[in-house]
Amino acid sequence: MSDETTAPEELSRDAAERELERLAQEIARHDSLYYVDSAPELSDAEYDALRRRNEAIEARFPDLKRADSPSERVGAPPSSSFAKVRHSRPMLSLGNALNDDDLAEFEGRVRRFLNLGEDEPVVLYGEPKIDGLSATLHYHGGKLALGATRGDGETGEDVTENLRTLLDLPHTLTGADVPERLEVRGEVYIGLADFTALNREREAEGEEAFVNPRNTASGGLRQIDPALTAKRRLRFFAHGWGEASESLGERQGDILARLDAWGFALAPLARRCTGLDEARALHREIEAARPSLDFEIDGVVFKVDRLDWQARLGAAGRAPRWAIAYKFPAEQAETLLQRISISVGRTGALTPVAELEPVHVGGVTVSRATLHNEDEIARKDIRAGDTVVVQRAGDVIPQVVRVVTEKRPADSQPFAVPAVCPECGSHAVREEGEAVRRCTGGLICPAQALERLRHFVARDAFDIEGLGAKQIEAFYMEGRVRSPADIFDLEAKDGTGAFPKLAERDGWGETSAANLYRAIEARRRITLDRFIHALGIRHVGQTTARLLARRYGTVEDWRTAMDAASEPESESLAALNDIDGIGPVVADAIVEFVAEPRNGAILDALCARLDIEPVEAPAADSPVAGKTVVFTGKLQRMTRQEAKARAEALGAHVAGSVSKATDYVVAGEDAGSKLKKAEALGVTVLSEDEWLAVAAGETPPAADDGGDEGSDGGG
Ligand code: IVH
Repeated sequence: MSDETTAPEELSRDAAERELERLAQEIARHDSLYYVDSAPELSDAEYDALRRRNEAIEARFPDLKRADSPSERVGAPPSSSFAKVRHSRPMLSLGNALNDDDLAEFEGRVRRFLNLGEDEPVVLYGEPKIDGLSATLHYHGGKLALGATRGDGETGEDVTENLRTLLDLPHTLTGADVPERLEVRGEVYIGLADFTALNREREAEGEEAFVNPRNTASGGLRQIDPALTAKRRLRFFAHGWGEASESLGERQGDILARLDAWGFALAPLARRCTGLDEARALHREIEAARPSLDFEIDGVVFKVDRLDWQARLGAAGRAPRWAIAYKFPAEQAETLLQRISISVGRTGALTPVAELEPVHVGGVTVSRATLHNEDEIARKDIRAGDTVVVQRAGDVIPQVVRVVTEKRPADSQPFAVPAVCPECGSHAVREEGEAVRRCTGGLICPAQALERLRHFVARDAFDIEGLGAKQIEAFYMEGRVRSPADIFDLEAKDGTGAFPKLAERDGWGETSAANLYRAIEARRRITLDRFIHALGIRHVGQTTARLLARRYGTVEDWRTAMDAASEPESESLAALNDIDGIGPVVADAIVEFVAEPRNGAILDALCARLDIEPVEAPAADSPVAGKTVVFTGKLQRMTRQEAKARAEALGAHVAGSVSKATDYVVAGEDAGSKLKKAEALGVTVLSEDEWLAVAAGETPPAADDGGDEGSDGGG
């Protein structure tokens, strides 16, 4: 299970395919946690890293890109329940300024673009940047007719009924000169007092607290049932507009004043700034006011006040040239680090976590922060009992920035990383060049069990039809399958124990249950290489599993040799290391796995239930030993992978392209350029059946006859 730590450029094709599948599932899961449950598990940076990895792998293997690739989806997953709304004008995002220089640069760009004279002041309208989600509202005859989320900026979702539940959103506009048609844009958010109260209520009802205000608002707005949106007590600040049936005014500030008069709430503290000094002063002022505000803000948006200038400036890509978000630095707070705990991820990675005395940072109570890994702890010298500075940037997950060493207790001790997994007690090892320590418990570690089971039934492992990642997860949650061997007891135990009959379970019936049991039966016979691969031993992918299977032949011989190899000076260990393609890191991982007694128990249980077929060592006298074979087109009798494995087991070399050195090209359905090339070079072309015959020792046909016999056989 080393795929996910391998750099994209080092992944084999098979590993890349597996990784893309894993990433698609993983990213979809985090999307749903973020958008649907409003309970993200990853920081923005960690989430972005997953997406970048997916894209890097897709760039290397464009043809492996999946139909459900995350790179095809941006932001909120399309929800089937809301109608799509195409925005009259795109809803833009904003460029960022992080310091005064950036702001000056922005002003300079505006000046240059408009070719302003030196004395001509640029008036900027500054408003708090609300940390919520934007929405747009259409009023017809002064009545709210339609409201939508931003979506991807071009198309959003119709959430009109949910928007009607906002506490301060006018359903009917009041005052003079309301345009017949008016589109108002702004930010949906939850007040901090409401957020705290809401979480208190949820906790009292035994529900999980929301992580932060922004996600509470965004999740709230996308509820199917408006009554649930109403419960979240969301609010709205207007900060812009879309279409209108008449001109609204000449300046940003004036138009906002009209919106105010028509009944919209506006964020406080906004005002006109003439020149950069005034703009900087407003930024400081709003930053100073930040802790006293009842809503989260993360900066100040500066907009060119004159609308005729806004129109001339236009947009570059997704961001207007006439506005910029001058962000605040991440908010920080001091608190006590009570202890460092270790959390075990689904792939066995041990992550140190700071358990903090709860502290308020940016409107959220923070009580845990990730410490990433032991190097990070050592670098910052973070210890239990320390007073630390924590910060919450745009990220969801807070970070420990540094230790306040002056406040360190005299008796404090450097943090010692545990050498055993806190979940299962197995050895936790850190490999050379790796930042993370990993539990070696694999199959026995509850934190990893589900991930291992998913791998166990994956396509290139046991590949049980009807038992994919989804089903195995459901069985695991239910307790029906906790360890791989349970899969092979499913039928015998069905309806006898704590679980209802499978056929009566949601989504199952007599036929599907019977089909599943038949598929499981079929897999009781498995080749040793597939079996070893299915175990999910770290660093042991298909290729290594095949090497092991070939070298040791039977499962019994393999286990005996691995047991013996746990002796550091043993011949068995030397022999394992001698296998071409297996290095010391891989050898250690294998020996460590087999030596773990609880893995041994799982191996025993599996061996008792399975018929593990030995893999013959490549026979020197096999008819195709030493021959070079190329497979092309779609094979009927076996997968390409299996064909390749079988050919290799017979001592043939399987090549990817056809050359004069090729002995046979095995052409399946729809064979293309490789077949043509073989014909051009006069290489023997075999049908799949012919290949099997040749491999079994029957005479190969002559090169010229290959194609004809192939079509005869097929016809
Ligand atoms: S104006 C054409 N004003 O920030 C510019 N946006 O990072 C459109 N936001 O998508 C935005 N407070 O959701 C503007 N006072 C404010 C804002 C604001 C928050 C959000 C808005 C936008 C995002 C861009």
